[in-house]
Amino acid sequence: MAQAWAILLPVLALASYASHLLLPTYITGPLCTGGDGGGRSSFLCAQPPKEKDQDPSPASTMYKTAFHFQPAKNWMNDPSGPMYFNGIYHEFYQYNLNGPIFGDIVWGHSVSTDLVNWIGLEPALVRDTPSDIDGCWTGSVTILPGGKPVIIYTGGDKDQHQAQNIAFPKNRSDPYLREWVKAANNPVLRPDEPGMNSIEFRDPTTGWIGPDGLWRMAVGGELNGYSAALLYKSEDFLNWTRVDHPLYSSNASIMLECLDFFAVLPGSNNGLDMSSAIPNGAKHVLKMGLNFGEDVYVIGVYDLKRDVFVPDTDDSRLWPRIDYGNFYASKTFFDSKHGRRIIWAWTTETDSSSDDVAKGWAGIHSFPRTIRLDSDGKRLLQWPVEEIESLRGNEINHQGLELKRGDLFEIEGVDTLQADVEIDFELTSVDDAEPFDPSWLLNAQKQCREADASVHGGIGPFGLVILASDNMEEQTVVHFRVYKSQKNYMILMCSDLRRSSLTPGLDTPAYGGFFEFDLEKERKISLRTLIDRSAVESFGGGGRVCIMARVYPVSLVDDDHKAHMYAFNNGSATARVPQLRAWSMRRARVSI
Ligand SMILES: *[C@@H]1O[C@H](CO)[C@@H](O)[C@H](O)[C@H]1NC(C)=O
Ligand SMILES: *[C@@H]1O[C@H](CO)[C@@H](O)[C@H](O)[C@H]1NC(C)=O
Ligand SMILES: *[C@@H]1O[C@H](CO)[C@@H](O)[C@H](O)[C@H]1NC(C)=O
Ligand SMILES: *[C@@H]1O[C@H](CO)[C@@H](O)[C@H](O)[C@H]1NC(C)=O
Repeated sequence: MAQAWAILLPVLALASYASHLLLPTYITGPLCTGGDGGGRSSFLCAQPPKEKDQDPSPASTMYKTAFHFQPAKNWMNDPSGPMYFNGIYHEFYQYNLNGPIFGDIVWGHSVSTDLVNWIGLEPALVRDTPSDIDGCWTGSVTILPGGKPVIIYTGGDKDQHQAQNIAFPKNRSDPYLREWVKAANNPVLRPDEPGMNSIEFRDPTTGWIGPDGLWRMAVGGELNGYSAALLYKSEDFLNWTRVDHPLYSSNASIMLECLDFFAVLPGSNNGLDMSSAIPNGAKHVLKMGLNFGEDVYVIGVYDLKRDVFVPDTDDSRLWPRIDYGNFYASKTFFDSKHGRRIIWAWTTETDSSSDDVAKGWAGIHSFPRTIRLDSDGKRLLQWPVEEIESLRGNEINHQGLELKRGDLFEIEGVDTLQADVEIDFELTSVDDAEPFDPSWLLNAQKQCREADASVHGGIGPFGLVILASDNMEEQTVVHFRVYKSQKNYMILMCSDLRRSSLTPGLDTPAYGGFFEFDLEKERKISLRTLIDRSAVESFGGGGRVCIMARVYPVSLVDDDHKAHMYAFNNGSATARVPQLRAWSMRRARVSI
């Protein structure tokens, strides 16, 4: 569960479903502070009034994503227990059946055969036992031998104490696994040891098996005042014993949320199944949610016999992020159909709670990505699953463009609100690269603000301007800048939202991340951006840096719903574009 623990306060809340006029209403309910992904604006936990029958507002329609997963209405947060089982992908999600604000969390459930189009089902888990009456929070699925899926999830009791609970499918022959039965002896795991904090004990991982045949899993918790990925072992998934040392511990965050632990083979496209033996040469990745908004990872070596995970680097300031934008509570799973590992995450709204109440919905999931380890073993690479191509409509294709300093090339002929854009930038010379300052690694966002798209550089900035209004007053810029470091080249990738909307009060950072690049060998820097109305999901350098973002341009709602898209270069070195391809994207079928 990606939530900071609630501070209860009576609040004056704006809550109205009137589409244009927001009428203030007094609601006495708790205010949940923080924890809605990146320390953004607080959100309301109060119950909204009952929905009236009326047309959705223009904002509700225009900002609704076409192919990023989101329920038809109401609040959604973390993905929970993704799996592939018997030909079907399952997407479970933290869901509020009662409104577009956080609260009353159950496990929403949708199924798919292609990770693109989804069928909505009844919730898989609802709050109906003493150990989950406050919420059926985040968890995982493990497929036990003999094809037996099991859910393990965090439940909250009436005092908001957290414990882990188990559920099994009622009928494994039902292809959709619609109904789940909770174990009679829930909760199976409580934080009842001395030194544990009973309200910080959540988000169990998928289990993995050791050479002793025992299952392991990690749970985020607090032990003797430090945050830890607590490690547990079990023979039957019901009776868990804590291993005396944690899998990992760190004081970099007050809680390590939504842990994920998986094995990867450097340079391999194939994912590894954690329920099987892990081949020699594999590395392990521990993903941790920090500070209620940042998904970071550490790569290391895991000794399954001793259950010891040794990270390659321990400097928390330099931990890479799975995604440098609005992307939290991510979860991976092994897709046995295609032998790959897939990840997706929760992406919050960055407008206000009253905007969400007016829209009637809040929260989307990032598009499913394959995730694998680069051949140097240092960096994860992510890429949208290829099934996305089934949504591609008409294509435009440009070859051999030359972008000189100050050039702005309009990309026309595709739906600029729903597009998949792939552009390569090729450098004619690397002589103009400016020197890299390693201290920038500590704050890439600062560098994206200071060296933004209007600040001319040596190599770059170049990239895409998207969702731009006629007069360019609104625009979102995704761009690169190349620096020469001592050993190699460093590329800064930014997704600058500061001018993405004229609406005041939105969270509009200039997101950014760095990646190392062998320019002399590779020459071409690729950018892929999925534009989906209020979602902008970008992949730099073949997925070395990914940035997910939310934008709410006023021009989408007010004008003739038009937006422009450009390729640009503001660096002194000419950037060649050997290939630019873009597709209009159809709407996926998501019925929920
Ligand atoms: C289990 O599901 C299968 C397939 O839908 C169905 O034929 C069967 O009757 C179900 N069994 C029970 C006990 O409901
Ligand atoms: C649970 O597992 C532990 C460790 O293997 C064992 O000592 C204990 O007897 C088990 N408890 C039950 C109820 O099976
Ligand atoms: C975290 O802080 C506690 C209390 O100061 C300390 O005992 C512990 O060693 C620290 N843990 C780590 C992993 O730094
Ligand atoms: C390129 O730089 C010029 C001059 O600073 C600026 O006006 C323009 O907006 C920049 N282009 C982009 C895409 O930011």
